[in-house]
Order: sequence, then C-alpha cells, then structure tokens
Amino acid sequence: MFMAIPLKMFSDAAQAAEQVARELSDLIRSKPNAVLGLATGGTPLLLYRELIRMHREEGLSFAQVRTFNLDEYEGLAKDHVESYWHFMHQNLFHHIDIAAENIHLPSGTMPADEVEAHCQAYEDAIRAAGGIDYQILGIGRNGHIGFNEPGSTATSRTRRIELCSVTRGDAASAFGSIEQVPSHAITMGCGTILEAKCIALLAFGEHKAEIVKQALHGPVSDQVTASFLQQHGNTTFFLDAAAAGESQLWPKYSRNPQQNHGISRPLCAAHQGNFSKRHHSLAKFFSAEFFQIGNGNGTIQGKLSWACATQCA
Ligand code: F6R
Repeated sequence: MFMAIPLKMFSDAAQAAEQVARELSDLIRSKPNAVLGLATGGTPLLLYRELIRMHREEGLSFAQVRTFNLDEYEGLAKDHVESYWHFMHQNLFHHIDIAAENIHLPSGTMPADEVEAHCQAYEDAIRAAGGIDYQILGIGRNGHIGFNEPGSTATSRTRRIELCSVTRGDAASAFGSIEQVPSHAITMGCGTILEAKCIALLAFGEHKAEIVKQALHGPVSDQVTASFLQQHGNTTFFLDAAAAGESQLWPKYSRNPQQNHGISRPLCAAHQGNFSKRHHSLAKFFSAEFFQIGNGNGTIQGKLSWACATQCA
C-alpha cells in the first residue's frame, strides 16, 4: 500500500540536523532510557555534533540511553580506523555520557560459524530493550538503508550481506581503493528497521536527489530498499534543498513569490533560501505531503501543509 512519507526540507544540512537533534533531545528528556537506532557515514555527522553540543551546553544526558547501530563491516576489529565502532566513538560516544554497556553494534569479527547466532542475539537484544524508539537513517546512492542492498526483502532481519559495487565504490576513497573495502558486512534487516517506532531518514546533497525521489515516489521495491519506508507509517525524510531535488519536486513552483498563488508565503521564503526573521522558525517546520496520482514523473499533486513540530517525543 502506498503512503505519502512526510518530508521536511531545510535550506541546509545544519538546520535539518538541528531539527532532528531537537526531536531526539525531546525524546530523551521525556524518556531518559530511550532506545536509539544510529547510522554512520557522512550524513549524520552534523547531527552528532549537535547532540554533543546539547550535552555540553544544555545538559542533555545520555546516561540511560541505549543505542543500536545499523551495521558493521565484516573483518574490521573495533579499533580499525574504518570500523563503525571506531566511527561512532570518535564522532559521538567519546563526547557524551553514554554508558559503555548501553552501546550496541554488530561485530564484524565473529567466526563464520557464529555469525548467525550473533545476528539473532542482536535481534534479541533490540527486542529485550523494548524496540527502537527513534531510528536514524541515511540512504545509499543505490537506495540502501543500513546495508540492505538491492534484493533485500522487507522482512529481512539482522544478517551477513554482500556489499554491492556501488556501495564499495562509495567507500573506496576512505579505504584507499575499492579492493580494500570489505566485501561483506553485518546489517540490521529491513524488517528490523521497519519495527522502529519512529524513523528519520536524512539525505543531503544533489547526489542524493534521484534516489530520494525514487524512495519517496517510486514503487515499493526491493531494488530501492528505502522505498519500504512508504509502508512504515511514522517515517519522515529530512532533506536539504539539493537532496529534495528542487527541479524534480517543485516543478510548478516559481522562484518569484508573486507568482505562487495559493502557496503560503513562508514556504515561498523557505524555498528561496530567503528567510525573514518571522518566517525562519516556520520554515523549519514546513512539510509537503505528496499524493502521487499516477503520472510518476515527480510532479507534486496534492496539498502542501505545515508539519507539526515533534512526532516522536
Ligand atoms: C551507515 C549506513 C548506510 C549509510 C548510507 C549513506 O551506517 O547504514 O546506509 O547511511 O550509505 O552514507 P553517507 O551518509 O556516507 O552518504
């Protein structure tokens, strides 16, 4: 069944990250032992920086928070500079008051005959924690969430997976060459992710625009596993203007506000990146609800509306 995914577009990635961080801090303040699903990669870096700032300057405590990461490369020990364990500690955990025993990542170094049991134990641990309250996702250029590469089913669970060439190519510069990128990883499954109570997918930059469009408006398909989020019911996409692919998503929308009859003024201002003080806070919260009426070419049909502030707190 098709469901429109609410979309929040921001003038830049920093503003999107601030909004998601605010939702997470509201959640943590109302539920100090909240369970967070976390992602690695370039996309969540600004979000993690903002959470660290909130910890230092606003007293946000992670003392009881529990975290489960999406994935880990096979064959990389925790102290490998490209391991996701290392990434998470460098970019978040070392800078906040989270308890070591509350941090969970799949291990990339289990003996082959223990991997299946390890994945099952990861699933059990998520369930025992009460499930994931708020899941952070990025999106790969092939539409993957976690490392659920094309072909992963909507019901897949935590498991070992072979990484496809697009994914390994994107990681090649970090590893030095594509040959040095691990060929396999352990990833939460799509089914595991879809059980999260609330999901925020972040995507920034023009290079994400095409795949974001497919995830939002394309058919629900195992060839773009992010499209499964259309079936989730409490997922929001947080995009900068480039990832929203203005030319694709806003085709009837003129840059001249005078010509945008029927579209609210703050939205016009937000779209132009021309925030007046009055419009600034409103612009942070606008969302577009898309109703796909069969033409499939990305044209918006339906209504634009204001989003409510926090969906998960
Ligand atoms: C990372 C993960 C991946 C990334 C995706 C986007 O834990 O699961 O799905 O979110 O590959 O990566 P970046 O953010 O580097 O573009």
